[in-house]
Order: sequence, then structure tokens, then C-alpha cells
Amino acid sequence: MATEIRDMDPSRCVLDTFRSAIAQKISTALPELSVDQVYSGVDYGKKGVDFTVALPRFRLPGKVDDHAKKVISQFTADDHVAAVTHDKAFLHFQLNTSTLIRAILDQIHDLTHNTASGNPEYGTNTTGQGKTVIIEYSSPNIAKNFHVGHLRSTIIGGFLSNLYKICGWKVLSMNYLGDWGTQFGLIATGFEKYGNEEELQRDAIKHLFDIYVKVNKDAEENPEVRVDAAKWFKRMEDGDEEALKNWRQWRALSIKKYAEEYDRLNIKFDIYTGESEVSKAVMDKAVDRLNDLGLITDSDGAKIVQLEKYKLGSGVIKKKDGTSIYLTRDIGAAIERYEKYKFDKMIYVVSSQQDLHLRQFFKILELMDYPWAKDMLHINYGLVQGMSTRKGTVVFLNQIIGEAASVMHDQMRKNEEKYNAVEDPESTSSEIGITGVKIQDMAAKRINNYTFNWDRMLSFEGDTGPYLQYAYVRLVSIGRKNPHLLPLPKPADIDIETLVQSQHARDIVFLLGSYPDVVKTALKTHEPSGVVTFAFRLAHAISSAWETVVVKGEEDIEKARARMWMYESARDVLGQAMRLLSLRPLERM
Ligand code: ARG
Repeated sequence: MATEIRDMDPSRCVLDTFRSAIAQKISTALPELSVDQVYSGVDYGKKGVDFTVALPRFRLPGKVDDHAKKVISQFTADDHVAAVTHDKAFLHFQLNTSTLIRAILDQIHDLTHNTASGNPEYGTNTTGQGKTVIIEYSSPNIAKNFHVGHLRSTIIGGFLSNLYKICGWKVLSMNYLGDWGTQFGLIATGFEKYGNEEELQRDAIKHLFDIYVKVNKDAEENPEVRVDAAKWFKRMEDGDEEALKNWRQWRALSIKKYAEEYDRLNIKFDIYTGESEVSKAVMDKAVDRLNDLGLITDSDGAKIVQLEKYKLGSGVIKKKDGTSIYLTRDIGAAIERYEKYKFDKMIYVVSSQQDLHLRQFFKILELMDYPWAKDMLHINYGLVQGMSTRKGTVVFLNQIIGEAASVMHDQMRKNEEKYNAVEDPESTSSEIGITGVKIQDMAAKRINNYTFNWDRMLSFEGDTGPYLQYAYVRLVSIGRKNPHLLPLPKPADIDIETLVQSQHARDIVFLLGSYPDVVKTALKTHEPSGVVTFAFRLAHAISSAWETVVVKGEEDIEKARARMWMYESARDVLGQAMRLLSLRPLERM
């Protein structure tokens, strides 16, 4: 039977306790099923139902209806499970509301304020303990434009790094720069004519790009330019120090600039590497090996790897002049990374436009018999249309960041009164703007294409980044607005009865309880969208509770405190989800 034993850890996800109570009951009524078996079949229910078990999945002999009836007739409520109903072969369970609310809020409290690490840990798990993952993402090309594909890789990769970390993995986040290839021969040629040290120091990314554009134009008019460029690059590949000197400086200055921009995006890399760092020796060895395996054909001196057998076409792996290309470097880089880091998994966050490239390159490593080839994973994503600024097309990352900030700033200024109340409107609007860009990017399944739309993503209405920041700020403000309730008594001294009585409160708390599962699901699917959906569901549940589950104006101080405890827990969990999405939750706006 295809049952997957879901790892159970009630110390991190208290809903596991409830699932296991349900599993016990079913297994007692139907002894042919083990508790473990049932446990992995306890799913979240549809609206109004806490958990549902679809009995047909167990393929028991006899009539499913009879099995369901058997469970129902033997059922007795206890302090975990309150009731069961059945709809044909589906068993629907309701949990005991007071146990549920108490258990979830206690756990959030402990894992937020009483952790050994001192950091909030609610939602985290230890499934990755002892394992190392390399996550390679962003990886722009020096001297070329930073396109939306790079932006998506940066956003999704940043999320994945956070995700693996909170699941206990040791994460090495890696930026594999396009810092090698014939284009550097071109820039070197162009630099002699157009280079300017001052401009280079001021903004290397921009200056190198400008030179690249100019020299490409020259090359169109004069084919000699490309010949010169190829010669330059050949000298670089041969390790000619004189030819490498400028390139080294360009690279260093570009990285410095990028790091500043990533910092604004709340993204950090442990390792900056690049195509240039792949050693010639390892690439030569790889090509020899492929040759021995009979996978290489020769075309006019160029070496081509044949993967037709695997329906993966063919690819050049060494040029006529002996220089390497993209594919060769990826193969070499992977081998070197394994040698150096002994990863348990390596993830490449790269646009689906490069699906074929990644499949070829993974296949080649598999054919070379590297046992770790099976531990490589390509996380792809769809295209984005229409990213431009009011001034025109986007070429650089700082233009995207700048536009997000300034559009948001204009938007905020429309409400004079509110705007004047914001302490630091510049940095606040920049942060909200970045949140808008990221949320738009992560809201749907990765593989979907979408159209970049500044107005939509930066609106405070609808499921947008600004709305999410607003929901968080509103939760934070409860403490500020009700100082008479603070500090809250310790959890054991808070009377939760008022929460038990409120369906709104129960909905919110149940959602909060599901957060550790949201994280686990994301780890399986590598989809940020599930976390985004969770954050909005929570924000909506909270916004529909404001009117009825009131704190301010509640005269019964015990009731007010219980509610405040719930809102503060919601704030903590929403904050965790936002940080997982690489956002910086704002305290005020
Ligand atoms: N620099 C490449 C580009 O801009 C992306 C690199 C993706 N990573 C890789 N290992 N091939 O297209």
C-alpha cells in the first residue's frame, strides 16, 4: 500500500497530537489498519471540518460504508477529538475547541519566546538535520543586463534558502556569476576605447554594460572586433595575467555593487563564485571521460556531446579553439562543488527557458556515474512580461528596486495625513515596494508566466504585498494601543474561554496551528505560493475578526487579554511567514 509515513513531531507541530488521536480511534475500530497507516491519511478537511479521513485509500476488503459505520459506532469523544460524522466513506472529525486553542497558543508562545536559540522557532522542523544543501540562484551575467529571469531566481532562491534553513538543513547559498566567456574578450577590447576608471568605480555594473553595448555595435560594423575579442578571451583562458588584470577588477567591483542591492532585497549569499572559477583541469578530465564513454563526436575540431539517445539533442562541449562553454563549465563546477562541499542536495534555481540545458547537464553527470548526480534538482519558473519603468526598459536590478520604491512613495503621498504620520517615508515606501514586487512574484505557482504590473502589485487592496505589510502593522499596533493590558500574564494564567466561544477566534487559531504543515508542504513542492496563500488566509481571517473579537473597548480585562494573546500569536506567526518569504515585516507604516 502506498502510504507515506509522515514524520510526526508534536513538539514542533501540535496538530500532530490531534492527528494521532484520530488515527488511534480509527485503528482501534478497524484493527486491520495500523496507527501509522491511518496517521498518514489524516488530511485537513474542507470548510467547517477540521480533519478528514478518506477510507477508500486504505483499500480494505468489504464495504467502505460499513467500515465508516464501525468507526462511528465505536467513537467516544475525549479531550482531543470532539465528534465524528461520515459522508459515505469520508470520516469528518471535529477537534475539542478548548484543547485545540490552548495547545496551539501555548506552543506558539513557547516556540517564539522560550527557545534555546533565542530566535523564534515556530514553524521550523528538524527534518534536514545533518544535511547540507547548496542552493544556487540569482547568477546574473556581469556586463549584461539583469533581467526578470534573474529577479525571479533571486526571489525564489532567497525563499528556498530560508525554507531549507528552518527545516534544519545547512544551507550554502551560492551566486554563480556569468563572469566568463567571449563577452569578456569583447569588453576588454571595448575598454581600451571606452573605459573610464571613474565611472567604473562609481557604478561598475552600469559602466561595463555601456561598454558592452558600444563594443557590440562596433563589432557589427567591423568584424575584426570579434576576432580581437576572441584572441583576448583565449589569452584569458590560458591564464595570461596581463589579460586577466582588468577583468579581476571588474568582477570585484560588480560583486560589491550587487551585494549592496541584494542587501536591500534582504538576500544574502554565502558564496560568490562564477563560471570563471571552474578549473580547466576538471573540465578537460570530464571531456576525456565523455570521450571514453563514446558520447563525443568531433565536428571540425569542436567537440559535441551526443544525447539523442536520451531525447536530449546534442550540445557543444568544447569549441574549435579549445575554449570551454556554458555547458562544460556547469559540469566542471558541479564536480568541484561536490568535492568541496559534499552536498546532500544541490538546487539550481533557473528559468524554464533553460530546461533543456539543465537536463542535458544533469544527464551527463549521471552518465559519468557520479552517485550524487541524483541529488541535483532544477527548480524552474515561468516568464515575466512587461517589466519596465516609467523611464523605459529595465536593465539593472537597482532600477527595479528604485522604481518599486518611488511608485510606492508616490502612492503613499496621495494620502497626505497618513503620509505625514510615517516616521521614515523613504525607507518605509522602499520596503513596501519591494514587498509588492516579491509577493506578486511568489503568489502563483512558479511555472506560471505573469505580467509585471506596478499598479496592481503596489495597491493596498487585494492580495498584495502592501496589504500584507498593513495586516502585520495592524497586529503590532494592538500592543501600542492597549498598554493597560501589558505585560500579558503567563499563558497558564490566561483564561481562553472567550476564544473558545468565538468561531472567528477558532478559525484563526486553527490556521496558526497549520503553519508548521505549510512549511513542510513547501519543502516538498518548492513552491512559495503555498506560504503566500497561508499569509493571506491568515490576514483575511484576522480582518474578519476585528469587529467581533475586540480588544480595545472590552471592559472585561480577562477577555481583552485572552484576545490580545491570540492577536499577538497571530502577529508572531504572520511575521515568521513573512520572513520566510524574505520580507522584512514593518512595525509601523
Ligand atoms: N548566468 C546564467 C544566465 O544568466 C544563469 C546561470 C544559471 N546557473 C547555472 N549553473 N547554469 O543565463
